[in-house]
Amino acid sequence: MGARMGISLRREWVDPLLATRPLLPALEVIFEQWAFASESELRQLERLRERHPFLLHCLSMNVGSSDPLDRGYFEQVRAFADRFAIAKISDHLSWRSIRGQWSLSLLPLPRTEEALAHVLARVAEAQSFLGRTIALENISQYLPVPGDVPLVEMFNQLHERAGTLLHLDLNNLLVTERWLGESPEAFLDRLTADIAWVHVAGHENVPLPIDDHSGMPTAACMDLLARVASSAPVILEWDRERPPLQKLLPAISAEQVHRA
Ligand SMILES: [Fe+2]
Repeated sequence: MGARMGISLRREWVDPLLATRPLLPALEVIFEQWAFASESELRQLERLRERHPFLLHCLSMNVGSSDPLDRGYFEQVRAFADRFAIAKISDHLSWRSIRGQWSLSLLPLPRTEEALAHVLARVAEAQSFLGRTIALENISQYLPVPGDVPLVEMFNQLHERAGTLLHLDLNNLLVTERWLGESPEAFLDRLTADIAWVHVAGHENVPLPIDDHSGMPTAACMDLLARVASSAPVILEWDRERPPLQKLLPAISAEQVHRA
């Protein structure tokens, strides 16, 4: 593995990170977790920013939806990115609302030229609101959708025509493979879009996999990472039953020593 692994920041890890000052190549910050933070909490985040590059991950750009983009939301994201000097911002190639009714889940788009054209127009609008190109993440997909445009081709076209980067989630490729039979290796082999950063994670099998970000990345996930010819930062996502930071960081170090 190339770069050392960074982590997706969770609120309870802020104090131990400030206290122990570990070496981390990057911290991913989820915008929605900080959108309503107090000024003193944001000042703590500034102290973290002094030590670590930040990557900003968003959940509500809603670029695949047909509802109007929420300009106020983008202005908040832009202000946050400016305050913390964050160059790279991502969301997902998905949609979350229909006629103003929001889903908690990230929903897949049809794989059609019409959907691609729709997302291209929306991404152009989002990028102009933010004053930067964005990255979009591949989501876990559990059911087939209409259309025959390969998913990787949608990301390649977004990059070619709008400059949009790929936020590559290897665990999501593996989960989708088990449900839909789509090959992660074929996705990586056909990929021409540049990668902003990479997500790795574990998942639970019940018996088919659910993308719940539980545990360390699977061996299959780390094998895929070895195939990624990019020096983009790698971020570990861990949500369900996540450990305290003093257990998480040694686990990451052990994984990297094992893989070196
Ligand atoms: Fe992810």
